[in-house]
Amino acid sequence: MDAMDDVAKDTVKLIASSRDSEGIVQDLNDVLFRWSMESVNTFLLDTRLGTLDRDCDGDAMDTVTSIVGVFRCMQKLMFDIPLYKKFRTPMWRTFEKYCEKAVQCSLRIVDERLKELNEQGAIDTDKRQCLVSYLLAAQGLSNFEISVTMMELMVGSVETASNSLMWTLYLLCKNPMCQQKLFNEIKEVIGNDCDEITPDMMNRLKYTKACIKESLRLYPVTFATSRLLNEDIDVLGYHLPAGTHVQANIKSLCQDETVFPDPKSFVPERWLNVRNEDMGVANLVWGHGARMCIGRRLAEQEMYLGLARIISRFQVFYPNTAEPDPVLHTVMTTAKPMSMKFMERSQLEAA
Ligand code: HEM
Repeated sequence: MDAMDDVAKDTVKLIASSRDSEGIVQDLNDVLFRWSMESVNTFLLDTRLGTLDRDCDGDAMDTVTSIVGVFRCMQKLMFDIPLYKKFRTPMWRTFEKYCEKAVQCSLRIVDERLKELNEQGAIDTDKRQCLVSYLLAAQGLSNFEISVTMMELMVGSVETASNSLMWTLYLLCKNPMCQQKLFNEIKEVIGNDCDEITPDMMNRLKYTKACIKESLRLYPVTFATSRLLNEDIDVLGYHLPAGTHVQANIKSLCQDETVFPDPKSFVPERWLNVRNEDMGVANLVWGHGARMCIGRRLAEQEMYLGLARIISRFQVFYPNTAEPDPVLHTVMTTAKPMSMKFMERSQLEAA
């Protein structure tokens, strides 16, 4: 958690230095992609890739941009007429190009780290620092399988956590009273110049967690989850034979007013005395059952730390009159880069 907290603190510095003269970060998506890539790799590889450095280039940034490209193409391939099944359409070829780059770059990052860990003799049970050394010590997977697993987890994490945190910040801009309540909690629990957010502090950040849950409800980045039926079922008079591909629309389930009164409003309070699980299938933002999101706890920890660090230093405002246009690029993101104003709380208080 310390390493992830360090990433959150460095992200705050990147936000501060990315502001224009009005205090606006013009492309918040880019900053948050860097944050999620850097954060997840503290857990996967126990390393810092340097993506929070503006000048960072090479494999880490190429992995991020290729993952974004893969997700964008995937949306079109999934929902347009599937001509790519007959011909290698231009969209298919672009998709292949992004996939190849994402695979090559991320595998190089993992291989390099594996080499370092081997040289340091860090692959023993006492020194397991991260998922990769854990998997190596367990000896159940080949090096290639481990590398591919790491790559898949990077792909699963970059767009999801970043867009979720972005929508949370946007909702806080639109709901200043919630933002103030959140800030009050953060100030009370972690104070002003807190070096380290401890697990005990994390447990007490109840409203912070509620804000993330409520934002995931209104903007579930993964809009649907799907399964192939392994047996025939009847649903509301419809017969669905085994082998049918069914999709649950997560966004519309989250708008069910019998479960979520006043469903269009941002009301973090509704989560204070319930657990995700209490909502049953009305809340599928992390999926369900054996195939539910494997990165959930990790993503939650990243987002709580990120949100606490950002709101502790800045008051956030949405600077435009036109609202952002949510679009699906496999995950729910914005049609244009999100811009957001970050004002230093210390200066606002002094004024
Ligand atoms: C806010 C962040 C995230 C959200 C909302 C999210 C949501 C989801 C959802 C809805 C599924 C489908 C589950 C199902 O069908 O039952 C899923 C699957 C998955 N997620 Fe996430 N996810 C997030 C972050 C992450 C992160 C950080 C990682 C990796 C570290 C990750 C890795 C995966 C993987 C590997 C799967 C496939 C699991 C399987 O098929 O067994 N996700 N996620």
